[in-house]
Amino acid sequence: MSPTEPAGRSPYRPATVAVTSGRPPHEPDNPLNEPLTMASTYVAGGDVEYGRYGNPTWSAFEQALGDLEGGRCLAFSTGLAAVATILDLVGQDGLVVAPRHAYNGSVMQLADLEARGRIRAQLVDVTDTEAVVKACDDAALVWLESPTNPALEVADIPAVVAAAHDAGAYVVVDNTFATPLLQQPLAMDADIVVHSATKFIAGHSDVLLGALATRDDQLYDVLKKRRDMLGATPGTFETWLALRGLRTLHVRLERAQANAQELVRRLGHHPAVGEVRYPGFGAIVSIVLAQGALAADLLTHKTQLWVHATSLGGVESTFERRRRWKTEPATIPEGLVRLSVGIEDVDDLWSDLALALDDLVEG
Ligand SMILES: Cc1ncc(COP(=O)(O)O)c(C=O)c1O
Repeated sequence: MSPTEPAGRSPYRPATVAVTSGRPPHEPDNPLNEPLTMASTYVAGGDVEYGRYGNPTWSAFEQALGDLEGGRCLAFSTGLAAVATILDLVGQDGLVVAPRHAYNGSVMQLADLEARGRIRAQLVDVTDTEAVVKACDDAALVWLESPTNPALEVADIPAVVAAAHDAGAYVVVDNTFATPLLQQPLAMDADIVVHSATKFIAGHSDVLLGALATRDDQLYDVLKKRRDMLGATPGTFETWLALRGLRTLHVRLERAQANAQELVRRLGHHPAVGEVRYPGFGAIVSIVLAQGALAADLLTHKTQLWVHATSLGGVESTFERRRRWKTEPATIPEGLVRLSVGIEDVDDLWSDLALALDDLVEG
């Protein structure tokens, strides 16, 4: 990780932004951090008026994440609420180009919109930049997820942005896996960046939250209006927890990434592991078990420390066989296990995993 470049519009580097952005002014008796404001309505005559249009706790979170991404941020009830609100930008019959291995919830939204005759969708292999660039020709919106969940494929974001903008299409990047500390799509001219803040940003497996950020004021206004109109707004307590989590994102990610890199090195030598997929950064690793689905299912039930659970990005290490979900595409190997590497001691993580993997080879 190299959090050394100043983030977005802030004069500070990302670690400092994560700790300081969105905090109340340094004035006597102000709290150091934004308190939880539980309010459904406000005294009339101000800018907000009603709890669906704004909340000081949301604003603090939006300021912090917006500064990290280098744009203006909007928080949502979940990542998928943000995804739905963005996809609603696409006009009738507009073409959306998206990765075939994007998060299956996002792909399911596309499939649903297509089945109802709202949009057209074209799924592409994001590692084939030439094919993605070609698909941009007729697109209204290009959806990128990089790295993809769970295949961990990486897109050439600047090349796709250039092609999409030539065609007059918006580019959206789901930055959930990389976080703004490892990748800043808006600095690469993407139009919107979207997050499942449920994951690394909140970071403690206790919150559902989504967010987007954009540098385009007009887009921001349209998306805010739509969020507020649809009521896809975040819970205040969830937003407060996510902001608290964001304050330590850089420290958590640095440790989780270091653990992931060490595990990748060790997993590569284990005979039960046929393939290790890791883009070189971040804390998500996918392994393909040499003996397929059954071995993968056995593995997820044999460990003591690693928890068999979906989702990712928490302080605790979790894993799951992705094809246990019927909605996962057939191009994801049956024996693929996605590991979300946490911040525990790496030797404990390895011992637990290695013991279970050894069992598979011996059993
Ligand atoms: C890459 C990615 N995007 C979006 C989502 C959806 O976010 P949420 O679960 O917060 O609705 C997820 C959830 O797993 C995800 O992994």
